[in-house]
Amino acid sequence: MSSAEIGLIGLGTMGAALALNIADNGFDIAVWNRTTQRTRDFHKAAGDLADRITPTESLKDLVAAIAKPRAIILMVPAGDAVDDQTAALRPLLDDNDMIIDAGNANFHDTNRRARDAGDLPFLGIGVSGGEEGARFGPSIMGGGKRTHWDRVAHILTAIAADHKGTACATWMGEEGAGHFVKAVHNGIEYADMQMIAEVYGIMRDGLGLDHHTIADHFATWDKGPLQSYLVEISGKVAAATDPKTGQPMLDVIVDAAGQKGTGRWTVIEAQHLAAPIPAIEAAVVARNLSSQRDTRAAGEALFGTAPHHIPHDTLSVDTLEQALIAGKILCYAQGFDMIAKASDEFGWALPLPEIAKVWRAGCIIRSAMLDDMASALQDDPDRNLMFAPAFSDALKSNHDALRQAVAQSALHGIALPALSSGLAYFDAMRTARGTANMIQGQRDFFGAHGFARIDGGSGHHGPWGSE
Ligand code: 6PG
Repeated sequence: MSSAEIGLIGLGTMGAALALNIADNGFDIAVWNRTTQRTRDFHKAAGDLADRITPTESLKDLVAAIAKPRAIILMVPAGDAVDDQTAALRPLLDDNDMIIDAGNANFHDTNRRARDAGDLPFLGIGVSGGEEGARFGPSIMGGGKRTHWDRVAHILTAIAADHKGTACATWMGEEGAGHFVKAVHNGIEYADMQMIAEVYGIMRDGLGLDHHTIADHFATWDKGPLQSYLVEISGKVAAATDPKTGQPMLDVIVDAAGQKGTGRWTVIEAQHLAAPIPAIEAAVVARNLSSQRDTRAAGEALFGTAPHHIPHDTLSVDTLEQALIAGKILCYAQGFDMIAKASDEFGWALPLPEIAKVWRAGCIIRSAMLDDMASALQDDPDRNLMFAPAFSDALKSNHDALRQAVAQSALHGIALPALSSGLAYFDAMRTARGTANMIQGQRDFFGAHGFARIDGGSGHHGPWGSE
């Protein structure tokens, strides 16, 4: 009876796919779902893998079906469900049994859960790759005690994506480190998706291209420096036709983006860390704004439709490709910079090159650039990626295209929140003498906050009172 090597709770889309992946890799697994019918249906549909899966109809049976010391993966919605499930499970477990939260948890919750667990084994792991990734090889970012990770690493590395012989499953650090890295992954995911959507908008509204042509451009770009999962699927999305109406699929999808909250967590945390991630912030703002459909429609009625049409000799599709290359680099640079800041702040020693490596396959932001990013971070993990030679060269070649895309779009009323934030970040990062001297002057004027002088010393005050 107690033969399963691991257990899994929660047979939703991701949980079911992960359970099949585990079984497919030769591990016996026991599963349980709150709704018993789902467990039965899952087992019935498991085909050849059914022999390796023990369906159970109570938590007690689940626990009894797993070999000691046990390890049980939770794949339940983030938030209270994780705490409730943990509370229901712990009394049935031995002290050496491990709970693994593999959902998209807020890393603060994971920190708390790890502390509450004390010596009881607990891991929080970020799993990326959507349903297909979970089924055939996700990217896994682990957090918790290293000894606990080591106990299940053979299973997690076996089920993870493979990048040229290297498994995309890595221990990131203590407590919520894995879920933190996953949150930043999602922040980059939001920014990358938003930039692609913005370039799609320029092609559709600015250049007046049809969806087939747009799809072809994405497909071509996916063969060059922009090669990535998100560019690939964007081409496929653009190419698809609605079976119901025969129209382009994109033309029948409502332009209001959903979000489960991971991007928002990243942005909130970035503010706490004083980590500048403007492209990621802009992407979250853009999702919030997208949901205000009625207000946007009223705005269009009030202010009129923007001119949109950009002459083709002013902005070419090649320029857009270059703009997206620069934008993509800046998304990752901001994300890795935030990770570096968190690593210092939380004393985690997050392995930056390993993070780039674990994202090379399986996850949503997998991209050809990540290999070079891993090497650049290996050379100097403390350097912002935009200063690493491979990426500073790429930015030197492509930032002007980003500027053209942003400038022409601004002139023609096409909103590019993420690309323009990326450009502003780039320009700010290459401006040795900025304008915060004015901010310091203002602060000192109204609040006597003091300022540093360029000829030395801090705590100076201006002559405001005597003016
Ligand atoms: C992944 C994704 C995934 C994400 C969903 C929905 O890495 O597989 O990031 O974890 O939660 O794709 O995210 P939003 O609803 O926030 O867009």
